[in-house]
Amino acid sequence: MGNLLEVKNLSISFTQYVEGLNRHDLKVISDLTIDVDEAEIVAILGSSGSGKSLLAHSILGILPYNSHVTGEIKYKGNVLTQELKEELRGKEICLIPQSVNFLDPLMKVSEQAIGECKDEKEHDEKKIKQREIFARYGLDESVDDLYPFELSGGMARKVLLSTALINDPNLLIADEPTPGLDSQSVKETIEDIKNLKQQGKGVLLITHEIDVALKTADRIAIFYSGYVIEINTVENFINQENLLHPYTKVLIDALPRNGFNFAEGVQPLDVVEGCPYYENCPIRSDKCRNEKPELIEHEGIMIRCFNFKEANDES
Ligand SMILES: Nc1ncnc2c1ncn2[C@@H]1O[C@H](COP(=O)(O)OP(=O)(O)O)[C@@H](O)[C@H]1O
Ligand SMILES: [Mg+2]
Repeated sequence: MGNLLEVKNLSISFTQYVEGLNRHDLKVISDLTIDVDEAEIVAILGSSGSGKSLLAHSILGILPYNSHVTGEIKYKGNVLTQELKEELRGKEICLIPQSVNFLDPLMKVSEQAIGECKDEKEHDEKKIKQREIFARYGLDESVDDLYPFELSGGMARKVLLSTALINDPNLLIADEPTPGLDSQSVKETIEDIKNLKQQGKGVLLITHEIDVALKTADRIAIFYSGYVIEINTVENFINQENLLHPYTKVLIDALPRNGFNFAEGVQPLDVVEGCPYYENCPIRSDKCRNEKPELIEHEGIMIRCFNFKEANDES
């Protein structure tokens, strides 16, 4: 088994012009490091607006023109240049986009799911696959000839999902694939994602639904204020005593009350000097105010905190 995807120290910011010529840099993702192995599902859990879709778009090479990116993304050990991203996109690396605006309004949905083919033979083969996947998601034959504007929101989501799955990606980036789906289709989606893993493929599952992450992923990364603050195994999320970051603990403790939905808290987006969780942290020390902890490895767990050891020793 090897690393399929490696994201190292990725930062994404936007240059904004406020009141004419005043330039302002809005940093959305800071120093993000994460990897996905073959036959592995890694979930990224973060509240809305935390930069999850931007992460997906940076891997696919479809960031907006006004974004500024630093850091490195590798696929199978090779640096993903814009050129390589475009070559692999929709083939080896597929995206289930969060927004249904990714559908082409002028193209029948079955044809966009099938995508470009080199000849008629390939088209016929993919047509069979498209019908089979659509049927599995409850989209009957009458849907094939519809245009996106004729679909309900749920149907559009299923078309996006099918489009990614038809291409048998080696790496799937699923950006919030389940909201708006009926429970049967959520189950089906989770099954399909797990099937990819069984076939040795890698999946980066972006979600704010911890329930979906727990049911699907091998590892879960927690996003806070643009930083990955912890990457831990799903077993530890279920048993909890091996969770390390104070924010992760608060998050998991709060879950039954939140109906197992990710809390929509206010997270500072202004660039802070110290730890992004400083203001809310029960185990903070003076060091945390002025110095930013790095993401370090501790017994196979990735953690961004100076004081987690002391906190765990006490309990
Ligand atoms: N084109 C853009 N220009 C400026 N800021 C943007 C742009 N796109 C996204 N952002 C900023 O990045 C933040 C994160 O966006 P996004 O990745 O869509 O969050 P998420 O998917 O986690 O909900 C947004 O809240 C917004 O402030
Ligand atoms: Mg998003």
